[in-house]
Amino acid sequence: MKHYLSITDMTPHEMTALFDLADRMAAGDIADLKHVADVVRDHTARRAGSAETEQAAPAGKVLGLAFFEPSTRTQLSFTSAMLRLRGSTLGFAGAGGTSVAKGETLADTVRIMSGYCDLLVMRHPHDGAPRLASQYASVPVINAGDGAHEHPTQALMDLFTIRKQKGKIEGLTVGLVGDLLYGRTVHSLAPGLAAFGARLVFVSPPSLRVPDYVVEKVRRAGADSPTSVERLADVVGALDVIYMTRVQRERFPSEEAYEAVRGSYRLDGPLMAAAKPDCLVLHPLPRVTEIAPEVDSDPRALYFRQAALGVPVRMALVSILLAMAPARARREYPPTVERPADQTLCPNERCVLNHERHVPLAAMEEKGERCLYCDSLRRM
Ligand code: NCD
Repeated sequence: MKHYLSITDMTPHEMTALFDLADRMAAGDIADLKHVADVVRDHTARRAGSAETEQAAPAGKVLGLAFFEPSTRTQLSFTSAMLRLRGSTLGFAGAGGTSVAKGETLADTVRIMSGYCDLLVMRHPHDGAPRLASQYASVPVINAGDGAHEHPTQALMDLFTIRKQKGKIEGLTVGLVGDLLYGRTVHSLAPGLAAFGARLVFVSPPSLRVPDYVVEKVRRAGADSPTSVERLADVVGALDVIYMTRVQRERFPSEEAYEAVRGSYRLDGPLMAAAKPDCLVLHPLPRVTEIAPEVDSDPRALYFRQAALGVPVRMALVSILLAMAPARARREYPPTVERPADQTLCPNERCVLNHERHVPLAAMEEKGERCLYCDSLRRM
């Protein structure tokens, strides 16, 4: 694993090793590089053709933060993680103050930032942007949320929280509630839960159902077919985990389309009374109206603790990626071409390929069934 772009980049075995490391880091055991090396050896042994690694310790290294979209938790918990590992951070929040405002391409921004840091964490409004970035970066890239596509580090902390509270993930019934169409955390979490053997119940309005490519990933992970329902009240009593999500206003094609489904769900006292006494309530946050404040004092409400657990999880991920990073060599960039402004390369409007001026030649010529950047099925 050179980059961390998708939940499918790690097997359940590898995620479990990461969680064990995160447990040690949560306990203040940050200097144990031998343990990191053991995890890394385990990763590399399972993957043929892994390059020689330099086994870098995070101390003294620099984490780059390229946040092209708003963020509180993800940005600050990566910063906290790197500071606790005795490293440092640099970067930007909002591209307005950078040369992107002058028309710089993502490929160029990433090549430049690679010279200033040892690891690059990226959040971007376009689906697949971190994957395109990884083709031009000479350091490992972490996807910190790309459009409506994926948010795999959030899924890692969600899985870690469930494992910590329940002692296991296998066999649990997890309800994923709300905006399953645009909610990128669910697009990473659902295949992750399926890989660990959880049962999934999708709860959404018909217009916000989970995209086909996510259902396909869930099936590939070997899970039973997920159940889909519209009303939370119909299933709440059967759930071991209630995962609430925000309706992603910023991704809707129009304000009317958002208005039609805003406030579709609200977890409140009466619903909690119908839930299992030992269920967990999770939310990636920020919440808007989907969890009533009265739920906050319920001992089953875990969302604030879940956010705090992002720090040890990200400490573990950063340590593993730095230790696995190949020794730096001059980077060979892929042959790159200028995309004609009127040429659409992917049927998904939000796909990075439809927005960047400079794209890899291979992406222009790619005829596969699925977009390698945003996963959407190509039916143009
Ligand atoms: C999520 C995101 O950015 O996708 N936030 C987060 O990172 N915890 C969820 C959201 O914005 O609704």
